[in-house]
Amino acid sequence: MFSRIASQATRRSVQQAIKPAVQARFASTKPAAAANAMQVAGVSAAIVGATGLGYMYANDNVHANMADEGLHPPEHPWYHNGPLNTYDHAAIRRGYQVYKEVCSACHSLDRIAWRNLIDVSHTEDEVKAMSEQEEYQDGPDDNGDMFQRPGKPSDYMPRPYPNDEAARAANAGALPPDLSLMTKARHGGADYVFALLTGYVDAPGGVEVREGLNYNPYFPGGAIAMARVLFDGVVEYEDGTPATTSQMARDVSTFLAWAAEPEHDERKKMGMKATVILTGLTILSIYLKRFKWAPIKSRKIVYNPPK
Ligand code: HEC
Repeated sequence: MFSRIASQATRRSVQQAIKPAVQARFASTKPAAAANAMQVAGVSAAIVGATGLGYMYANDNVHANMADEGLHPPEHPWYHNGPLNTYDHAAIRRGYQVYKEVCSACHSLDRIAWRNLIDVSHTEDEVKAMSEQEEYQDGPDDNGDMFQRPGKPSDYMPRPYPNDEAARAANAGALPPDLSLMTKARHGGADYVFALLTGYVDAPGGVEVREGLNYNPYFPGGAIAMARVLFDGVVEYEDGTPATTSQMARDVSTFLAWAAEPEHDERKKMGMKATVILTGLTILSIYLKRFKWAPIKSRKIVYNPPK
């Protein structure tokens, strides 16, 4: 009894001793914290405001003249856009034909070798036959001379011009860019190439297009040195597909999408495999964890103090 009263007394005195200290702490930090919050809010508001204004003005500049940026290409429902879809390989084959018969007159495709077409759009025999129709310089031979030989599947696609200067000279000063990575190099990718090839229209009133240039709203600036190259029937497809302008544009865009990303099909297949395997492993590890932990989680600890 006596000891309990004593302990109550000590508890009270301890509380009294703590109280002023607690108050003092609040007294010193509370207003400081409030002032700090005001500052933080002020600085944040300034940053947000400045960024917002920056964007407003930046966007103003961009949208001030759509012609400078080029019209945004409409989205095309590419077969290979589906998360589990491969390329449309028949389209790659037709697209190669369009590239070969039309675009390769001006554009190189430096990063694609004949062998890359094997089992993608053509058989090995077809690729061998196609490559042999081209002549390549090789050498030097035993006399130190360079010589010409027929192509092999390991050769790269032949260039239409020996160098950029020759390419410019033949195209009124404009350089036809290499198409290997074109769908990755342009905003919109295959959509852009499709829109560009099918987008030739008469220049609207008030728009002057310089001599030698052609009006195309999808090309930044609106005036492109490449004239319209696809017209209904310029190629004859071996599979009987009607060679309309849009069909050829679609096929060659698919071909160029493949050229820029030949690993696409393999990548999606690997992704599928990884997802399936990792899902299995995740489930297995959840099961194992529960299995191993079950005795630990479900045990009951009983403490019997000595009496
Ligand atoms: C008669 C030559 C010629 C042919 C044929 C040709 N092009 Fe071009 N192409 C050019 C030139 C020149 C340019 C550069 C245009 C410029 O910079 O104004 C160009 C530019 C391009 C560009 C780049 C546009 C950009 O955003 O910079 C693409 C894509 C293109 N061509 C695709 C094709 C495709 C696909 C074909 C075949 C269907 C093709 N071209 C056929 C001459 C040609």
